[in-house]
Amino acid sequence: MPIRHLYFHIPFCPKLCPYCSFYVEVGSKNKTTAFLDALLRNVELATRDYDIAPQTLYFGGGTPSALTTAQLDYLFTGLRARLDLRELREWDLEANPATIRPEKARLLREAGVTRLSLGVQSWDDALLGTLGRVHSAADAERSFELLREAGFTNLNIDLMFSVPGQSLSQWEATLAKTIALAPEHVSSYCLTYEEDTEYFRKLLGGAFRQDDEHDAQLFETTMETLPAAGYAHYEISNYARPGRESLHNLAYWQGRDYLGFGPSAFSTVGLRRWENVRDTAAYTERVLAGESTIGSSEMLTTQIRAGELAAFGMRTSAGVSLDNLQLWPGALDEFRELGFIEQHNDRAVLTRRGKMMADTVAEAFV
Ligand SMILES: C[S@@+](CC[C@H](N)C(=O)[O-])C[C@H]1O[C@@H](n2cnc3c(N)ncnc32)[C@H](O)[C@@H]1O
Ligand code: SF4
Repeated sequence: MPIRHLYFHIPFCPKLCPYCSFYVEVGSKNKTTAFLDALLRNVELATRDYDIAPQTLYFGGGTPSALTTAQLDYLFTGLRARLDLRELREWDLEANPATIRPEKARLLREAGVTRLSLGVQSWDDALLGTLGRVHSAADAERSFELLREAGFTNLNIDLMFSVPGQSLSQWEATLAKTIALAPEHVSSYCLTYEEDTEYFRKLLGGAFRQDDEHDAQLFETTMETLPAAGYAHYEISNYARPGRESLHNLAYWQGRDYLGFGPSAFSTVGLRRWENVRDTAAYTERVLAGESTIGSSEMLTTQIRAGELAAFGMRTSAGVSLDNLQLWPGALDEFRELGFIEQHNDRAVLTRRGKMMADTVAEAFV
């Protein structure tokens, strides 16, 4: 079977956000040019080792849209020369609202990008300040309009809730503004205090406080508001208009093979999983010297893989077939008794209560 899903990690951001734990750095022109050459070389080498016929391409990060129009053109032209894209169904790119200009939006569209994820996070300027974002709500709205004007018909808006100091009414206003703009997809993430971030240190130091009840209230509001506006809640953090689910993310959740390019990018092929080195300079040097980019790797067992698929599946509205849960009879019974899981035909799916405990349920399988 050919590999049908490719991920590209672009590790550069205009400024590092205090809550973010992705592998990123502030970009500079010299580093970026060499990095793009390395990325293209890495793809070229991979096409010798694997049969690759992509159905989805995903440019994430970091901030792929922080590349200049000329750099994006160089990268995409190079990729088109190296990959057979005849079976491509979705081409995603993550964008920070501060980085979208009319010319760049047009280039992205003409290059073949089909779906853009705009990191809006909030429509409230005070909360954007708390998050240390480099854009205002007005900048985000302008970027959204520019993308529509450039011809994008598949747009996602990323939001975050449980931001320190965020009230229920601020979150309701953000949801209402999002719905008014009518994107095809909304990703709504509960803020996570990731280790080794400024936010985590502030939490430990007492400057920030976690409130599970408030988090649950904001999540419940999301689960009511977005579906009422026509967005199906198809995965714990994701809502889509019919037929607008992210095909790339669905591929991960269904356990398809994928290759990742760039520093810190993961690949999974069969039971083999590896992560590229988490260092842009080392990644670039290694590729250009013809050396392996792998930083760490592991062989999964069929049981570990089945557990991962059960955990991913439980987070989706499709749930998991009971056959695939036979390895965990105790967990299934326990979650049924707690009212977290119910049976729909031959599948186990999360109840409304279970959705509030999705991470706990998922962890039982991995
Ligand atoms: C890799 S970022 C890509 C978008 C772009 N870099 C930006 O921030 O605009 C993907 C999304 O992850 C979410 N995210 C990042 N850090 C998070 C955290 N600590 N907790 C919850 N969501 C987070 C944000 O909604 C962000 O838009
Ligand atoms: S949240 Fe996005 S823009 Fe901010 S540092 Fe992380 S990847 Fe970069």
